[in-house]
Amino acid sequence: MAEQIIISKDISSKEDMYISLSPQIRSLIEGENDLVANLANVAAALKEAFNFFWIGFYIVKNNQLVLGPFQGPVACTRIAYGKGVCGTSWKDKKAIVVDDVNQFPGHIACSSYSQSEIVVPIIRNNEVVAVLDVDSDKLSQFDEIDQKYLTEIVEYLNF
Ligand code: SME
Repeated sequence: MAEQIIISKDISSKEDMYISLSPQIRSLIEGENDLVANLANVAAALKEAFNFFWIGFYIVKNNQLVLGPFQGPVACTRIAYGKGVCGTSWKDKKAIVVDDVNQFPGHIACSSYSQSEIVVPIIRNNEVVAVLDVDSDKLSQFDEIDQKYLTEIVEYLNF
C-alpha cells in the first residue's frame, strides 16, 4: 500500500496541525525499518504540512554533524561539535529556538534567506545521535509548540 499523510486544509492552528500530523508520522515510521527512508519521509511530511524554508537532519558521524535527508535549498554538509546552532544543540543536548539568526553568535548561514531557526537534538542512551534543524525565511517563526511536537516526532525515529 502506498504510504500517505493527510494534511487537511481546514486546520488553521499550528498546534492542531502538529496534533493531526504526529500520529500519522508515527505510523509511517512504524511501517518501515530503514532509517534513511524514515528521515526522508519525516522531512517531506513536515515540509508539506508547514512549508518550512528548510528542514532536515544532521547525523553525528566521526565526531561531526553530517548532512542527512532534507527538504529545501542545498546546505552545509558538515558542522563541528559546538559550532553554529546545530553544533551548540549537540553540545548542550538541548533544543534551541532562535528568533533572529543574526543575533546568534556563531550561527552558520547556509542560506542568506534564513531568519529564524529551531534545532532539536535526537538523543539515544543519553548521547546525541543527530539533530533536526528547521529554518524559516521570516523572523521569530518557532516557539515552544514547535519544540514540543518536533521533540515528540523525533522520538519515533529508529536510530
Ligand atoms: N544554521 C545552522 C546550519 C545548518 S543550516 O541552517 C541548514 C547552524 O547554525 O547550525
